[in-house]
Amino acid sequence: MAVRKGLQKLVLLLAVWVAFIKQGNAENMNGRYLVASGSNQGVPFNDDYASKGHEYFDVWSPELATHYGEVFWTDQGNNPIPKEIIDRFKGKVMAITGYEQDQVMVTPTGKPGLNPDLDVSVPINWAYNHHYMAWMTGDHSEMVRISNPDPKDVSDHGSPMRWMAVNKPTSKRLDPKIPTSQMFSEGNGGESRKSFHGYPDGYAQLIDSPNMWHITPMQIDTRNRDCGVTPKDVNNCTNHVNPGPEPRQARYGLGIPKEGSPYSGILECPCNGRYGGDPSIYGEGTLTKKINHHYTCISQPSCGNAVIGNAPECFDAVYQLGLLVSKNITLTPGTTGVPVGCTVQSLSDGTLSATYNPTASTTQCSTSVQRYGTTAFEVGTKIGITLNSTMALITISGPDDVWFGVGFNATHMADSPYTIIINSDGVYERQIGTCGSEAEHCPGDALDTSVTVVSTTVQDGKRTVVLSRPLKGKTSKHYTFDITNEAQIPFISAIGYSQKFDYHKAHSSGLVVLLAHGEQNCICDIGKSGYMCDNNGTNCDTFVKNCVPAPDGDLLSQQNPTCNSIQYAGGLQCCKHGRIMLDADQEIRPELLRYHMKFRFWFQEYKVDGEQVSHYDLPRIYYQTEAWAGEYDIPPAFAAPGKPIPGYPNWPANTPTPGTKCSGDCPNGKDCDCVHTIVFRWTVSNMRLIYAGGHCHAPSCISLNLYRNDTGHEMELLCSQMPVYGSGNVTHNKYDELGYLALPPCLWGNDKGLQPSVFLGPNTPLVSIKHNHNTNMGHYGEMASWQMRGTFF
Ligand SMILES: *[C@@H]1O[C@H](CO)[C@@H](O)[C@H](O)[C@H]1NC(C)=O
Ligand SMILES: *[C@@H]1O[C@H](CO)[C@@H](O)[C@H](O)[C@H]1NC(C)=O
Ligand SMILES: *[C@@H]1O[C@H](CO)[C@@H](O)[C@H](O)[C@H]1NC(C)=O
Ligand SMILES: *[C@@H]1O[C@H](CO)[C@@H](O)[C@H](O)[C@H]1NC(C)=O
Ligand SMILES: *[C@@H]1O[C@H](CO)[C@@H](O)[C@H](O)[C@H]1NC(C)=O
Ligand SMILES: *[C@@H]1O[C@H](CO)[C@@H](O)[C@H](O)[C@H]1NC(C)=O
Ligand SMILES: *[C@@H]1O[C@H](CO)[C@@H](O)[C@H](O)[C@H]1NC(C)=O
Repeated sequence: MAVRKGLQKLVLLLAVWVAFIKQGNAENMNGRYLVASGSNQGVPFNDDYASKGHEYFDVWSPELATHYGEVFWTDQGNNPIPKEIIDRFKGKVMAITGYEQDQVMVTPTGKPGLNPDLDVSVPINWAYNHHYMAWMTGDHSEMVRISNPDPKDVSDHGSPMRWMAVNKPTSKRLDPKIPTSQMFSEGNGGESRKSFHGYPDGYAQLIDSPNMWHITPMQIDTRNRDCGVTPKDVNNCTNHVNPGPEPRQARYGLGIPKEGSPYSGILECPCNGRYGGDPSIYGEGTLTKKINHHYTCISQPSCGNAVIGNAPECFDAVYQLGLLVSKNITLTPGTTGVPVGCTVQSLSDGTLSATYNPTASTTQCSTSVQRYGTTAFEVGTKIGITLNSTMALITISGPDDVWFGVGFNATHMADSPYTIIINSDGVYERQIGTCGSEAEHCPGDALDTSVTVVSTTVQDGKRTVVLSRPLKGKTSKHYTFDITNEAQIPFISAIGYSQKFDYHKAHSSGLVVLLAHGEQNCICDIGKSGYMCDNNGTNCDTFVKNCVPAPDGDLLSQQNPTCNSIQYAGGLQCCKHGRIMLDADQEIRPELLRYHMKFRFWFQEYKVDGEQVSHYDLPRIYYQTEAWAGEYDIPPAFAAPGKPIPGYPNWPANTPTPGTKCSGDCPNGKDCDCVHTIVFRWTVSNMRLIYAGGHCHAPSCISLNLYRNDTGHEMELLCSQMPVYGSGNVTHNKYDELGYLALPPCLWGNDKGLQPSVFLGPNTPLVSIKHNHNTNMGHYGEMASWQMRGTFF
């Protein structure tokens, strides 16, 4: 009964709104908008839909109820649009000419749509709208959750499963050219409420027989609970000098500024002491981030992206490889003649040195095939190996009263290694450990002889045998020396009870690192991987993103921390639904913030008159300057003394971070001013842009610019997204929250105040450039995507 009453009231209200529209009294839900139309030419574009005769309907999502610091990021299911609209457009086409978006607390709580006049907008500094993806479906479409068909399409921000609207296979559509569903995801973040989402005359998002809408919002609750969290509290603490508690990794570990901060460090999804927190903040012993290493001496010209990045790690790696050095040397920045990173050299006195060079260098690592190495095993045996391009000279020694042996490229007998066994009778080759789980007790199979005994000596109870062998194994069961990937060989060794080869008395393992004498031997970390985990070290995740290499993209060459789970310090990967962006020892307050996402869809009827159509459909066109990482980090311009930069460990002092350019007296002068830049280059074909909205986050976005760069139009500006920052005068305008932004989109068309649309022909190069401030503070999880609509004719 109550439900029917509610519905009746809804119907009544709708009738009232329609009446309003007819009288021309309705206005935009969020007030007037700015449009960066390109020219403006003194005549502003008319952003007032109602004045142009467009109609609208409103919808509310189911309730979002969150704790302080909590992430809400999940689909809210199928939600009907008003029945009058469904009935009116059954078997017809609706032309959606734009939409407005808000987040509102409703009266009574939990019952949206009953008293829309009493809706209270939730300030963006209470609940940060990170982004949303919304859809409208109809009689001929449905939402499905499928695995992401295109790894480059990270419009759902990299999740392996994504929601998609698809055609229902069986239904009979009016016109196969008219879409059966539409997606809404333009200027879809903190900027969404005051960023215009609408199209010039004659363009729209067309949909056949609409009946449902859907939303997957991503929201982060940042309202300081000490300031209250109900509709009556909206005008409390509007100075925003008092953000709530933040985890230690927020704001790159630099803390909330003394003078306060208009934005919350939580909105950037810092990894934290509950999940993924970085060892530079939470200590080397933290279970929230684990780094695995595989240190290796290589015979390639460079370590590539496996360079060891600091001196202590270099010296420790050399030590772990069993190389005893007489010197650990850290070069001063700018030294030439030594490869970047970690190297080992032989000194004139015959000893070794480990060298760490912090500076990028053109000097290459040794690729020599002439190498030598030795190791002594705990069981009292020793092996020495000298290689040239064809042969291996192998020296093995052990006790003369028992058998002893060495197994190549193995850490356990179960690796079934090629093995050389030596006793008083001679030298034998075998493949041992060939019987699976019984391997420990398995003598294995004798192999054909492939070694030549060069010499045998017995002295002081020790037998030493020198052998030579071709590098290439005689059969596939004989070991083949191959140092193209790793110039080192793991070994196992054992000794027996007597001369008779039988069950071993003792065994151990060791590593022979093969160095090139008198050359630069590079030590790299070729198996480095990072695991982000819960507070107790469980539920770990490891990933490497599809970041684009130079010259097309900048993230890889700038070593942006977003690209892999080793460096990752903040953003979506730490911000999953239900997580709390606080440290484990910080309180979860009980007070819930309860609200709804609200959309106002503006529409016209779609009309066909012979060849003439009232509206052309506008498909979505989506690119990321941070291709295809879905987000990226803006590190602070400089490492502060004693404060390592999460994601850029051991970044040197007084050196601008990658992507940063500064002017003035930096880092400490008052006039120091730094800007972080990323660029992306790609091509498009036969495309006509009608709408271009950027997506970037408060509080450091300077600009996002899109250029064409074809012959005759070199670096010609197509669209400039300049954020309009809130001034904090929220009693005058509730959407004017200090430091938060709106992004006036670019529009092209025949309307007054717009420039005509531009046709971009085959293979037109485009360039996107994104600038952010980073003088004193960095930002995790920033975005720089182009959410555009256009036609392909
Ligand atoms: C408003 O915020 C202040 C803290 O700045 C707090 O002491 C007060 O209780 C809040 N008022 C309400 C109604 O929550
Ligand atoms: C070099 O550094 C390693 C690792 O810290 C250490 O074990 C070793 O003793 C050092 N050698 C010298 C000669 O300082
Ligand atoms: C490789 O070393 C073997 C001896 O171990 C020697 O006979 C041979 O000439 C060497 N080959 C080259 C190319 O140096
Ligand atoms: C050593 O063994 C690993 C597997 O355990 C194998 O992948 C690798 O190719 C081997 N290396 C050589 C040089 O045989
Ligand atoms: C680790 O923490 C998770 C989440 O709090 C919990 O479900 C799990 O039982 C814990 N595991 C261990 C081994 O403590
Ligand atoms: C623009 O195109 C020119 C000519 O192809 C090229 O040299 C230049 O690097 C391009 N600019 C950018 C920013 O990619
Ligand atoms: C807020 O805006 C109103 C209207 O423009 C203006 O009268 C008022 O002075 C402003 N308040 C502040 C603090 O800037």
